[in-house]
Amino acid sequence: MSDATETTTTETRADISAAAVVLAAGKGTRMASDTPKTLHPVAGRAMLGHVLDAARSALAGPRIVIVGHDAERVSSAVSDLDSAARTALQAPQLGTGHAVLQARAALEGWAGDVFILYGDTPLIEPATLHRMAERRAAGAGVVVLGFEAADPNGYGRLLRDPGGALIGIVEHRDATPEQRAIGLCNSGVMCVDGARLFGWLDRIRDDNAKREFYLTDLVSIARADGAACAVEICPEREVLGVNTRAELAAAEAAFQRRARAHAMAAGASMQSPETVFLAHDTRLGRDVSIEPNVVFGAGVSVGDGVRIRAYSHLEGCRIADGAVIGPFARIRPGAEIGADARIGNFVEVKNAHLGPGAKANHLAYIGDASIGAGANIGAGAITCNYDGYLKHRTEIGANAFVGSNSALVAPVRIGDGATIAAGSTITRDVPADALSVARARQLDKPGFAARLRAKLSAMKSAMKRPAQDQKS
Ligand code: UD1
Ligand code: MG
Repeated sequence: MSDATETTTTETRADISAAAVVLAAGKGTRMASDTPKTLHPVAGRAMLGHVLDAARSALAGPRIVIVGHDAERVSSAVSDLDSAARTALQAPQLGTGHAVLQARAALEGWAGDVFILYGDTPLIEPATLHRMAERRAAGAGVVVLGFEAADPNGYGRLLRDPGGALIGIVEHRDATPEQRAIGLCNSGVMCVDGARLFGWLDRIRDDNAKREFYLTDLVSIARADGAACAVEICPEREVLGVNTRAELAAAEAAFQRRARAHAMAAGASMQSPETVFLAHDTRLGRDVSIEPNVVFGAGVSVGDGVRIRAYSHLEGCRIADGAVIGPFARIRPGAEIGADARIGNFVEVKNAHLGPGAKANHLAYIGDASIGAGANIGAGAITCNYDGYLKHRTEIGANAFVGSNSALVAPVRIGDGATIAAGSTITRDVPADALSVARARQLDKPGFAARLRAKLSAMKSAMKRPAQDQKS
């Protein structure tokens, strides 16, 4: 595979000397879920994972996740999503300003800047964090990420002076009618001078409509301290916050649009991009062609010149250059499909390696197996890998031919160049270049079928007659 491109993240360097504090303490009531909100997946990865990925790819400093509601579960997810990230507990949850304060101990001794991100805002892009860092480097003590909202209801509004400098943020509930007419809204994302952040947070009060410690008060506090504040603007779709299942679906759709566009820009063809679903980590080579209704689960990497035909489902697998998959193929975790191999309709492959040029064109199950180069697996061939308790391996040599409707009862080895007769049930190893026939020998009885037909048809007419007599 050459030049494989991840479909999602744009190339950036983690060269900003800043820490990330990711808020994930909220309850997420409107999801109506037993799963904490930030652990719901977009493109196969928890939303919180997307945010940590964006932070990791742009920022060189530590990553602290603020947990509160269902803290144990969120903390254990954090260690799976990003083993370098740490957590800090916020209990009780007294507002966004109070949430960031909980990172103080974890950031003890950190002298760089601090980004504030949100576990339920998964589409933030590393390039945007870079732009914010540039503004911060140009002298702003606080840089707030703003967006023009299609419907600003409910968002904090960004108040600017005639020169465009940020002078304050007012929450929707606390805003005057004139302020509510402002379309420029607070995404919540900020980049703050790390040396002064906690001193400013200490001065936030809860004298507002919700009696919460609003992080947004940071702007007026920083200005009172003589620090300049600035706004960086991004498209609304990038700061789409997820509060409901419908918004989760909208975030998924936005992610998919972006990932498809990225994949096509990097050299993949899609006849019907809106029907192709990519995962957060799908890697596609050059000149990959993807037909309609293909679904990629997590962990798929596809080589150059691969064709993935309609209605195929792939997950946790590697497809080497020039292979053809589908239509209607299912490629499951641990599958490695060799260069120029062919996997046809209704073929399922799991935890199996197919060598270069191997073929399984129709209706087969290949599980826990290795298939040599150039081998041919006939229609309806099955590796019987499971005995009800344990899984066993099947090894098929190079250029072997497995006839249609064969059952290979694992553990079993088929040697290089061996041929398995159609309909065989193979329970012992087959030597290289042997022909193995494991089925009852064919027996022909001349004329028997004709005699049988005559006899049965006579019986049927005899049975029908009394029934017709009764009807009349
Ligand atoms: C916040 C902003 C608002 C902005 C909006 C963008 C404040 C005061 N307001 O409002 O200006 O337009 O986001 O969506 O910051 N959280 C905690 N601990 C808490 C409170 C919140 O971790 O004590 C987390 C929540 O889980 C959530 C995020 O912080 O992920 C934002 O909190 P939320 O209550 O949704 O703030 P908004 O009222 O939406
Ligand atoms: Mg919110």
